[in-house]
Amino acid sequence: MNATIAQLKDRFEQAMVAAFGEELAGTDPILVPASNPKFGDYQANVAMSLTKKLGQPPRAIAEAIVAKLELADLCEPPTVAGPGFINLRLQPAYLEQQLRQMQADQRLGIPQTKQPKRTIVDFSSPNIAKEMHVGHLRSTIIGDGIARVLEFLGHDVLRINHLGDWGTQFGMLITHLKQAYPEALTTANALALGDLTTFYRQAKQRFDEDEEFRETSRLEVVALQAGNEETLRAWNLLCQQSFIAFQEIYDLLDIQITNRGESFYNPLLAGVVADLDRAGLLVSDQGAQCVFLDGFTNKEGNPLPLIIQKSDGGYNYATTDLAAVRYRIQQDQAERIIYVTDVGQSNHFAQVWQVARRAGWIPDSVELVHVPFGLVQGEDGKKFKTRSGDTVKLRDLLDEAIDRSRADLEARLEAEGRQESEQFIAHVSQVVGISAVKYADLSQNRTSNYIFSYDKMLSLQGNTAPYLLYAYVRVQGISRKGEIDLQQLANSTIQLTEETEFALAKHLLGLDEVLSALEADLMPNRLCQYLFELSQKFNQFYDRCPILQAEEPQRASRLGLADLTARALKLGLSLLGIEVLERM
Ligand code: ARG
Repeated sequence: MNATIAQLKDRFEQAMVAAFGEELAGTDPILVPASNPKFGDYQANVAMSLTKKLGQPPRAIAEAIVAKLELADLCEPPTVAGPGFINLRLQPAYLEQQLRQMQADQRLGIPQTKQPKRTIVDFSSPNIAKEMHVGHLRSTIIGDGIARVLEFLGHDVLRINHLGDWGTQFGMLITHLKQAYPEALTTANALALGDLTTFYRQAKQRFDEDEEFRETSRLEVVALQAGNEETLRAWNLLCQQSFIAFQEIYDLLDIQITNRGESFYNPLLAGVVADLDRAGLLVSDQGAQCVFLDGFTNKEGNPLPLIIQKSDGGYNYATTDLAAVRYRIQQDQAERIIYVTDVGQSNHFAQVWQVARRAGWIPDSVELVHVPFGLVQGEDGKKFKTRSGDTVKLRDLLDEAIDRSRADLEARLEAEGRQESEQFIAHVSQVVGISAVKYADLSQNRTSNYIFSYDKMLSLQGNTAPYLLYAYVRVQGISRKGEIDLQQLANSTIQLTEETEFALAKHLLGLDEVLSALEADLMPNRLCQYLFELSQKFNQFYDRCPILQAEEPQRASRLGLADLTARALKLGLSLLGIEVLERM
C-alpha cells in the first residue's frame, strides 16, 4: 500500500491547498491506519494540528478539506468523525485492481528500490578454534534474514563473516598443535585435530600450568606476526578445521557468507596507527597508544582511552575493526554497514566509529548501524546451558530440534492413520525443525532476551514456523483436492464480498509497507508478525467462506485469493530463510 498512501497524501495536499491556500502546500496529512476497521482503513488527523494556524475549530477544517478532496477513484466518500478525524475507506474496485497487479507480478508488487545501496552485513562471525555458540546462532539467523530482505529489495549486499581468526590466543593453540599433533602439520590434515573444543581446552590448561609452554606460546605469536612459514601453516590448519565445523552449521541453515576474518586486516593495522597519529588523535599512555574518547568516562569521571596498540606492540579487536571499517568504505565502497552482534558490543562499536569519524574516515553519506540482539535464555530464565551446565553445541541444538519435530510428526501420522515414506518424514522433520529454530529467533523483538523453548517453537499453534508452514500447506491441499493448478489461477479475477475476504485482501496489500519498514529499522520480527497475521486472516477466511464448493465466479475468486496468500507466505518465509513444504 506504499503507493496508495503516497497517492492519498498527494490528494490531501491538493485539497488542503484548494481549501486554505498555498501556505498549506507540503503539509503532512498525518495519515494513519484507522484505529478500528469499523471506521475505515485510514484516518487523517491533520485538522487537529491546524487549529492554531488557521484559527478555526478542527471539525470545520476537516469539513473544508473533505469538500475539496478528490478521491472517488480510490475511496468511498470520506467522513468526518469526533473532533475532526477524516475517515477513509478504500473502494472494493480499487482493492481488486491492486490485487490484480499483485497477482500479475512475480515480486507480488514489491518494487525494487530506486536507490540501491552497496551494503555490508557483518554477521555470524564466530571465533576460530572455539565452538560457535547460541549468540553466533542469533547473529547468523538475524543477519541472514536482514541480508535476504535487502537483497530482495535490490540492494547490493556483501555478506561478511568477520571471523575471530587472529590474536594472541593462537600462540598457545599453535604450540599445542606442534607438540601434540606433529603429524597433522606434516600431512596438512586438519581433520587429525579432532574436536577443537577439547583441543582448545587442553591448550589452555597447559598454558595456565606450564611456564615453559607459555614462553613458547609467546614466541609463536611473534613468529605468527612475522609470517614464519611453519607457524602460518599451523595457524592455517586450525582455521581449516574450524571452517569445516562452521560450514556444517551453515549448510544446515542454508547460509551464504564470505569469510573475511580479522587476519585479513592484519597488514593494514600499522597504517591505521600511523594515520591516527597523523590525525593528531594518538596519545601515549603507559606505553600504549590510545585515543581518548568523547562521552565515555571511567569511574573517576576521566575520559576513557580506546587502546589502539598495546605496550608490547600488539593490536586488538578495536584496531582490527578500525581497519575493517575503513577498508569497507574505501575499498568495498560500502554505503551502509550493518553489524549484527549481541547488545554487549554496543559500546565497542560506538567507540570504534567515534575514532574513525574523528579521523575523517566516515563520509556523511555512509551509514553505520549496529543491529544488537539480546541473550538466549533457558526455560529457567538463566543463560542457555545443557543439563550438565555446559554450553550447548549448535550442532546438537539443531539436531535436537529436528529429532523433536520428527517425533511430533510421527505421532501425528500415527494419530491420523497416515502412511508416509521415510524420505518424506526426514525432509519434513528437517525443514520444520530448522524453520522452528530460525523463526523463534526472528519473531522476537531482537533487542530483548528470548527464552529458548523447543515445545513452543515446534507448536502448531501460535506465532510459530509450523503454524505458518501449515497455512501454506492448507492452500496446497485445496488445490490438490480440487485438482486445480493454482498457477493457472494466478490470473483469476478476485471479487471481494465477505468481511473476511476484505480483511485478508487488505492485509495482503500491506506486504510492501512491512518490507520498507524492515529495510529502514532492520527488525525482522515485523515480517514475522505480518506473516502470522496473514495466516490468521487466511484461516478466518477459510473457516467462513467455502472455496471449492462455492459457485462461479466466486469459486475462482476465492481460489485466486488463496493462491495469492500462499505466494505471499512463500515469499515472506523465503526472506526469513525458511523454505515451505507442499505437505506436512
Ligand atoms: N568474533 C566476534 C565475537 O564472537 C564478533 C565479531 C563481530 N563483528 C565485528 N566486526 N566486530 O564476538
